[in-house]
Amino acid sequence: MTYAKITGTGSYLPGVPVSNAELIARHQLESNDEWIVERTGIRARHIAPATVTSSDLAFEACKKALEAAGRSKDDVDLIIVATSTPDYIFPSTAALLQAKLGIANGAPAFDLQAVCSGFAYALTVADKFIRSGSSKCALVVGAEVFSRILDWKDRGTCVLFGDGAGAVVLEASEQPGILSSAIHADGSHHGILSVPGQVCGGQAIGDPFLRMDGQAVFKFAVRVLSEVAEEVLAAAGLTIDAVDYLIPHQANVRIMQATGKRLGLPAEKCIVTVDRHGNTSAASIPLALDESVRAGKIKAGDTLLLEGVGGGFTWGAALLKF
Ligand code: UT7
Repeated sequence: MTYAKITGTGSYLPGVPVSNAELIARHQLESNDEWIVERTGIRARHIAPATVTSSDLAFEACKKALEAAGRSKDDVDLIIVATSTPDYIFPSTAALLQAKLGIANGAPAFDLQAVCSGFAYALTVADKFIRSGSSKCALVVGAEVFSRILDWKDRGTCVLFGDGAGAVVLEASEQPGILSSAIHADGSHHGILSVPGQVCGGQAIGDPFLRMDGQAVFKFAVRVLSEVAEEVLAAAGLTIDAVDYLIPHQANVRIMQATGKRLGLPAEKCIVTVDRHGNTSAASIPLALDESVRAGKIKAGDTLLLEGVGGGFTWGAALLKF
């Protein structure tokens, strides 16, 4: 049986960490470090310079992932970039990344837009490409510059997000890799988290900033993250006890704690990086994965449960042997 297996991870954060206090001072926010830490767990985030794009961040993360996998750019036969902050309306960030990496083998490259569940979606799609025999070596990437779509006057959202990228090399393997995955959407909830603007006639029309009903998102997230975790565990014939680490989308430490509690997962098995990265949307899961691998926490053979939830609404999970 052919599995899709992660053989290398990489990530990249632009610049230096920006603390809550620095962010508050920079944008003259009526906020304080205590509120942000208590309500979200966030202490710092990275903000990309104005000239740095999602494909730039993705490029750095992919170089590291390829090196970790012992693969060259010429081995790559599929690129999927999960992003909601693409470089351009078109071409895709994935196509720009392909050019930056110097991949000239005609491999397909496309973006996937599922906001904060983008990486769970991209991994699920890449798994299907690999298991069907269409691809053997995929770059699956989450890359975001959410700082570009934040309203710095809206303290309820602008303190939550950050920029960054994470990537994995996903290869065909006879050894178990992705054991099960699931992705879902319910567009009827589109209004609780959105950037309700568009480019028309040379200008942004509507509202080009991220808007969120935080409490509605919170409740929705905890419910669907628990449900989709149970779904992928059942599909693989496993229980939560088999999971070495849960890597949830890093939005709010309280969402992660509530989800872990519902699942009966000990707190030490939940990977948390939101304190240092903020919410990097589609990049948060591969960023957390790469940091944990490089720190020696996650090791070959570990069973990992990756899951995300985001605008749309969308949600998804993948259970895998690392
Ligand atoms: O990637 C998925 C997307 N996002 C999420 O998963 C986020 C989900 N939601 C959340 O994480 C939380 O709902 C938030 C962190 C966004 C907000 O926490 P909360 O405990 O739900 O607070 P709240 O919205 O009920 O606001 C409580 C108070 C309000 O003041 P009043 O009306 O009680 O006087 C807010 O205006 O806190 C105020 N507030 C702030 N105060 C200081 C909101 N933002 C801030 C702030 N600093 N940055």
